[in-house]
Amino acid sequence: IPTKEFIEKLPKVELHLHLEGSLEPELMFALAKRNGVEIPFSSPDEVRAAYDFHNLQSFLDIYYQGANVLIQEQDFYDLTWAYLLRCQADNVLHVEVFFDPQTHTDRGIAFDTVIGGIHRALEQGRAELGITSQLILCFLRHLDEAAALETLEQALPHRDKIIGVGLDSSEVGHPPEKFQRVFARALELGFLTVAHAGEEGPASNIHGALELLGVTRIDHGVRCVDDADLVQKLIADRTPLTVCPLSNTRLKVFARMEDHNIVELLRQGLCVTINSDDPAYFGGYMNANFLAVAKAHPMSHVEIAQFTLNAVEASFISPAEKTRLV
Ligand code: HPA
Ligand code: ZN
Repeated sequence: IPTKEFIEKLPKVELHLHLEGSLEPELMFALAKRNGVEIPFSSPDEVRAAYDFHNLQSFLDIYYQGANVLIQEQDFYDLTWAYLLRCQADNVLHVEVFFDPQTHTDRGIAFDTVIGGIHRALEQGRAELGITSQLILCFLRHLDEAAALETLEQALPHRDKIIGVGLDSSEVGHPPEKFQRVFARALELGFLTVAHAGEEGPASNIHGALELLGVTRIDHGVRCVDDADLVQKLIADRTPLTVCPLSNTRLKVFARMEDHNIVELLRQGLCVTINSDDPAYFGGYMNANFLAVAKAHPMSHVEIAQFTLNAVEASFISPAEKTRLV
C-alpha cells in the first residue's frame, strides 16, 4: 500500500482550482485589515468554524463573501502567490487555475486589476518556482448570459493570458444551454472550453456541456454514473473529469470518502484526475486530497500514479511540454 511519503513525492498536476477558493482565513484577515473591509468574524479560527457546509450553495454564499477583501492588484497577487507556494510544498509542477472575474467586477474592481495581480504571480511562479500554469476565466452561471458576454469582451485585451473559459457557481437551475451563445463566441475566438457539470446537477448537464458548449474537459462530472451510456462514451473518448474529492465530501455530494466513486471510475478506464477545488474552504490542497482518497480506497502505486498521468493527458500543455512532465 502506497505510503504518505510516496504520495507527497509523487509529481502532481492540478486542473481544477478556483483562485478565490485558495484564500486562507489568515490572508482574508490580513487583507480585510489592509483594505479596511469589515468581515463578520473576529479571528481566523472563527472563520474556519463557519465552514460547515451542507450543499454547494451554502459554500458559495461564504465563498463570495470572503472574496470581498480582494480589492487591489497586490491582493490578487498575494492570493495567487500563496497558492503557488502551497503547490511547491505539494510537488505540484503544473496548474490550470480558474478565476471568477464577475465576483470582482460586480463590486467595482476593474478586470485589469484582477488579472494583473494573478498574472504577475503566475509569471513569478514560472521563473522562481518552475511551476508552469494556464489561466481559465469562469463565467458565473447564476448570472445571465448577457453578463457573461460582457465579461468575455473585457477579457479580449488579455487574450494572450487566458487559455480558456469555464462555467461555475450554482449548477442546479442553470444548465449548460443557458450559455450556448457565449461559449460559441469563445470558441470562435480560439478559447478552449470547460464547464462544471454533474457535481450537484444531473448527468444530462455533462451531455449538454459536451454537445452544446464544446468542452474538452468536465469539471467534477461524478454524477455521470447515473447514465451508463454516458459513462461508456466518456471512456471511449477519454474525456477528462477533474474530480475534487474533499470538495465532494465537504459539500455532501458523497456522504463519506468511502462512498466516493473516483477509484471505481479510474478502474473503469475513465480519465479521472484529483484536484483541490477550493482548498482553503474544504480542508486540503493536493496532497491532502490524494491522501484522503488513498486512505478510504486502498490502491496500488500504479493506480495512484495514474491520476497524475491522467492529469498530464488532460492538461492544456503542448505535447512538447508534456514530455517535460512525464
Ligand atoms: N462548484 C461550482 N462553483 C464553484 C465551485 C464548485 O465546486 N467552487 C467555486 N465555485
Ligand atoms: Zn470547482
